[in-house]
Amino acid sequence: MTDLPKPRGPLGDAVVQALRDLPTRPVPRIDLEPESADDAALTLWVLHELSYGGFAEVDDWAESEPELLRVRRDLELALEDELRTRWPGVPETELEPGFFDWVASHDGPSLARHVQAEATRDQVLDLLRFRSVYHLKEADPTTWVIPRLPVAAKAALVELQYDEYGVGDPDRLHSHLWARGMAASGLRPEYGAYVDDAPLEILEQNNALSMFGLQRRLRGAAVGHLAAFEATSSMPSRRLAQGLERLGFPAEMIGYYTEHVEADAVHEQVALRDVCVALVAEEPALEADVWFGAWACLDLEDRTARRLLASWGVEA
Ligand SMILES: [Fe+2]
Ligand SMILES: [Fe+2]
Repeated sequence: MTDLPKPRGPLGDAVVQALRDLPTRPVPRIDLEPESADDAALTLWVLHELSYGGFAEVDDWAESEPELLRVRRDLELALEDELRTRWPGVPETELEPGFFDWVASHDGPSLARHVQAEATRDQVLDLLRFRSVYHLKEADPTTWVIPRLPVAAKAALVELQYDEYGVGDPDRLHSHLWARGMAASGLRPEYGAYVDDAPLEILEQNNALSMFGLQRRLRGAAVGHLAAFEATSSMPSRRLAQGLERLGFPAEMIGYYTEHVEADAVHEQVALRDVCVALVAEEPALEADVWFGAWACLDLEDRTARRLLASWGVEA
C-alpha cells in the first residue's frame, strides 16, 4: 500500500485531511472548487486509488463514502467534459479496416524516438519515474471493464489481460516486470512512489484510464483507449529498448520493453478486432465512444510528450 501523496491545492488538502480523519470523524461537506488543474488531477488520482490498492493510513470504507464519491464524480465530469470539448469527433473511417491507418496518421511528438536517439540518462530516469505511476498497476484499469462486455468481447479481453497478468506466472506479470526494472535501475519499485513527482499530464493520463474503466457507461471509451494504447506500443517499445541499451540500463528494464515489442503487436489486433469491433457489433451506439477513448489515449500521450520534452529543453 502506498502513502497519501502531497495535495496540490485546497481541494486536495480537504480530501486528504478527510481521508486521514476517517473513521474517527465523518467526512464534512467539501464545498471547494479545485484551485488549479494540478489540484483537480491529484485529488482525482487519490480518490480513484481508493478503488485500487488504497492507502496504508486510510480506512477501507473511504471508497464508498458518499461525499467523497460526489467530489470524485464532479472531478470526473470536468475531466470528461474537457476531453470531449477537445475531441474533434468521430473520424470518417471505419474501425475495421480504418483504425490502424487512423492511428498511424496521428502525428504527435514521440518520447520513444527521443529516448532511442538522444535522451540523456537523467531524462530517461525522469521518464521511468513518471511512467511508473501507470506501469506499476499496468492493465488494472482495463480489468474493470470485463464484466461490462458482451460474450465475444469479454472472452477476447480476458485473453489479452491474461497475458498482461503474466499467463499465470507472477514473475511474468507486466507490472512486476516493470517493478524489477525500476529496482535494477536504482529507482523505487513500490507502487505510487513517484506520484508526487508526476506532472499534471501524467496524472491526467492515469485519471482518464481509471474513469473509463470505473464507469460502465464509458465502456466504449475504455476499450477504444486500450486499442489505441496497444497500437502505439510495439514500435515505440523497440525504440525505448534501444535507447535504454544505448545508455547502459540494466537488462531487467530493457526486458520490460522488449517483452512489449511482440506482445503488443498481438495485443493491438486482439484489442481492435476481437474487443472493440466485437463490442460495437453488439452495441453499435458505442462506436463513437470507442473512437473517443482511442483519441483520448493519443491526445493525452501527446500532452505528456510535449510537457516532458519542453522540460528537457527539447523541441517537439
Ligand atoms: Fe503490458
Ligand atoms: Fe499489451
